[in-house]
Amino acid sequence: MKTKIAIFASGSGTNAEEIIRYFQNHERIEVSLILSNNPKAYVLQRAKKHKIPHFVFTREMFYKEKIVDEVLRLNGIDFIVLAGFMWLIPERYVRNFISKMVNIHPALLPKYGGKGMYGNHVHEAVVKNKETESGITIHWVNEEYDEGNIIFQAKCKVNPSDTAEDVANKIHRLEHEHYPKIIEKAIIG
Ligand code: GAR
Repeated sequence: MKTKIAIFASGSGTNAEEIIRYFQNHERIEVSLILSNNPKAYVLQRAKKHKIPHFVFTREMFYKEKIVDEVLRLNGIDFIVLAGFMWLIPERYVRNFISKMVNIHPALLPKYGGKGMYGNHVHEAVVKNKETESGITIHWVNEEYDEGNIIFQAKCKVNPSDTAEDVANKIHRLEHEHYPKIIEKAIIG
């Protein structure tokens, strides 16, 4: 039986799509489900394109009604990947998926982490503070934003002339290169 991954994403989903592609013909791992809190998220189009089932949920369904828990259970999900998912993960998920849930953050944690530090906000802060480098962090998920144990980091240079968009592009390249492989390693060892 293959290990079944569910990917949670709130936005465009370029990382989700790289992960879908990477595991398309994998012997031991498959992406079984895409979940989003945002009915307009482009990741849902990507899920349709690759014929991966998807599920959209509200705050109530996620935090109170435990409907998302049920969807994960019914789909036999073994491993959760957060790829640009912007809501805090409820504690019961953390308990149910110990060492089975990873997140990617577009900075070198612990720098530029925490509430409000996501997506372009991170890159804008990096440019504003004239950082000379930035990078990505892949980490296990716990109940706090961006605080689980770090699995992997990779760096890129930030030039004085770089805009937040330039940094975002460099970060996305690093994410696409590493996230699928690190997920594979986290699952298979
Ligand atoms: C990625 O850069 C990811 O690191 C970031 O959102 C972007 C999603 O891009 N995640 C966070 O900021 C989480 N705190 P994508 O939709 O193109 O994959």
